[in-house]
Amino acid sequence: MDNKVRESVNRFYAAAAHEPIASLCCAAKYPEETISHIPKSVLEVSYGCGSPVTMAGISAGETVVDLGSGGGIDCFIAARSVGRTGRVIGIDMTDKMIGIANEAASDVAGNLGYDVVEFKKGFLEEIFLENGTADLVTSNCVINLSADKKAVFKEIYRVLKPTGRFCISDVVSDRELPEKIYNDKQLWGECLAGALREEQFIGAAREAGFYGLLIVSRSLYRELEGIRFYSITLNGYKFQKESVPAYSGQYAIYNGPFQSVSDDDGQLYEAGIPVEISSETAEKLNRPPYSGLFTVIDAEGGPQKSSQPTPGKCC
Ligand SMILES: C[S@@+](CC[C@H](N)C(=O)[O-])C[C@H]1O[C@@H](n2cnc3c(N)ncnc32)[C@H](O)[C@@H]1O
Repeated sequence: MDNKVRESVNRFYAAAAHEPIASLCCAAKYPEETISHIPKSVLEVSYGCGSPVTMAGISAGETVVDLGSGGGIDCFIAARSVGRTGRVIGIDMTDKMIGIANEAASDVAGNLGYDVVEFKKGFLEEIFLENGTADLVTSNCVINLSADKKAVFKEIYRVLKPTGRFCISDVVSDRELPEKIYNDKQLWGECLAGALREEQFIGAAREAGFYGLLIVSRSLYRELEGIRFYSITLNGYKFQKESVPAYSGQYAIYNGPFQSVSDDDGQLYEAGIPVEISSETAEKLNRPPYSGLFTVIDAEGGPQKSSQPTPGKCC
């Protein structure tokens, strides 16, 4: 099945690169100022369903890898954000898409005044990059096109730096798809037949080791035979755990607004009640997506001085 899906998706996007498909184009709306430096040849083969690159909070100097980069739109947007000290790598399996992107690259470099983008042919399921290459992996309406989503998330985890992150827009369905839809090649190409249910999609990311999984946008993409397909944008974070957690008297206090929350490891935090945490967890809670939700304090910061019950000890 895997190779058959790849072959038919590849044929679909080779044709969609050759002759742009207006009905598939431009579902993602980009503010004019983010795309003003990008040639029309790229914009008319923009087949994304979200805007992960504009939502990822990219900093200057970062290395961004965009999977299924197509004509290159998201890479060119990212190029502006990473600046001249950054790097953007677009990966796609379809020669014609890579061709459009490469042809536009020199115009974009001329418009920006620097050249930080490269496009390479490759597969999502076997990314040719070394371990720990990227600060950020993005992908826009692509993972649904893979028959092996678990392998894709495993690869994303591998190529990210130890505290890297992903921001991915993709299509999910509100229920299991019938065989008739799943076996329809045209619907694979249109980003419908390969859609997982939202919890399966998030589950594949979690299984690969990501934490802090957060949906940052969700909107209706299409409806077909009573099935609703949503475009979601999901953030996820890599954080490699130490095998033995070290404690140095740090505590986390959950700030609310809920009465309590539990983390990905099942640790419960009640609002206002200090919980002793390892230095690794302290570092994690001070970073997105948790920063602001907790106050992390050391022993001198005072949980013992408060009248709270004896603090719990956690991860
Ligand atoms: C829906 S288009 C999105 C393109 C681009 N992200 C955009 O927003 O315009 C999907 C792209 O993913 C590529 N693709 C699909 N499956 C792939 C795979 N298994 N490995 C590499 N590229 C793949 C296709 O060639 C196509 O260019």
